[in-house]
Amino acid sequence: MSNPVRVPLVTRPLSLMQSLSAARRNVLSILPEIATRQPMVSGRVGIRWHMVMDPAALRQVMRDRLPDYPKSPVTKTLLKPAIGNSLFIAEDAHWQWQRRAAAPAFSVRNVRAQGPVITRAAEATLARIKAGQAAPMNMFDEMVSTTFQVISDVTLSGESGFDRDVVHKAIDDYIAAAGRITLADMFGLPGWVPRGGWFRSRRALRTMRKIADTTIEARRISGPQAVPDLLDLLLNATDPETGRQMSTAELRDNLLTFIVAGHETTALTLSWALYLCAFDQSVQSKAREEAAAVLGNRAATQDDLGALPYITAIIEETLRLYPPAALVSRTARKPDRLCGREIRKGDTVMIPIYALHRSHMLWDDPDSFQPDRFLGGTKPERFAYLPFGDGPRVCIGQSFAMQEAVIILASLLAHFRFECAWDNPPKPVMLLTLRPEGGVWLKASPV
Ligand code: HEM
Repeated sequence: MSNPVRVPLVTRPLSLMQSLSAARRNVLSILPEIATRQPMVSGRVGIRWHMVMDPAALRQVMRDRLPDYPKSPVTKTLLKPAIGNSLFIAEDAHWQWQRRAAAPAFSVRNVRAQGPVITRAAEATLARIKAGQAAPMNMFDEMVSTTFQVISDVTLSGESGFDRDVVHKAIDDYIAAAGRITLADMFGLPGWVPRGGWFRSRRALRTMRKIADTTIEARRISGPQAVPDLLDLLLNATDPETGRQMSTAELRDNLLTFIVAGHETTALTLSWALYLCAFDQSVQSKAREEAAAVLGNRAATQDDLGALPYITAIIEETLRLYPPAALVSRTARKPDRLCGREIRKGDTVMIPIYALHRSHMLWDDPDSFQPDRFLGGTKPERFAYLPFGDGPRVCIGQSFAMQEAVIILASLLAHFRFECAWDNPPKPVMLLTLRPEGGVWLKASPV
């Protein structure tokens, strides 16, 4: 069987102008093919940069020497206007107290408690697809609606003053305008260098912040919901070491962080998973057998998760082939050595998760789609598989996202057969995240 779509990586050196124009279309297209065959690739574009694909070196960057490798200006430049100095962006003590305060909101118990919200969104999606009468649908759009329903319900449940469509549009506008990462961003030019799209996205930001502030103030007055949502949990969140609580501005920035970080990433995972299931009908049939045996005619719930190992493996394999956060970046604060190579203060250290997951040194037949890699108790080597990052800054929403993706994919596969309805398959293109350009057009027939 052929392999699913992939990004064509660079096989010969590009000139600066060629790199600039390639990166504007797709950041991943500047990755050299050798990044999938070597532990580390270094170079210089004005400043020194390194791409690291070696698990031991990644452990050093992401865990053992975390304070020496803060997030690069690229991350901060793009996201700070939207989400302030929140958990995703902050460093050192300011990061630490926010992480300590927010952690209980993502405990196993609290994540489990949000299960019914996801099941409701799965049911609504089944109804929407059924109403589509088997005409081809762009599943990326469908999945974005589904995961936005989930994240808005868990962050700001039942808020009458909260207009879901307005916030959704504001976020989409912001990502579209600000998300085109330039090479200047990638290689770490300072944040004040003007970028395209900057001013266009301002209005979207103002709208988003205003809605969030109004919602927070209203909730302070109305008190918590019957089943506390993320806003309730954060309103009560206290740093266990200092007793400090979040101000309205800090609460707003973190809520918007969860909305921005949490919905598109999960929608992408589901869209790529559906693409892969349409690409390989034998995997889809096996998954449907599992889902149908567990669910019958209903949508999946939190309690079904343990009985859906194959669907879980499909999600894990999807996150390997198309990691939504396909490239993250750090800046060295101190001199170091990685893979025996000198790292100087100020060097950019990129973690190309996309190339790591397709490394011939770490994976057997890395470009092929084989969910079985994740079955039978086999786990990938630590720091060789990083869809959610690792170390102290690992994604705080990891279990939430896995729970959501498995519940929704199982519900969809138990009810519909998905077949390709495209002339050209989607192209993996990284803007802020790894998106299926052209959409994931599928025909869904009831089973
Ligand atoms: C499939 C879905 C998701 C993927 C692939 C994903 C991926 C990631 C990755 C790779 C990081 C680490 C970034 C780095 O080290 O530079 C991260 C961090 C983070 N994610 Fe996620 N994420 C997902 C879903 C979510 C959800 C559902 C939420 C919240 C509701 C969330 C909130 C965050 C936050 C707040 C951080 C920063 C944590 C910190 O720095 O302490 N993510 N995510």
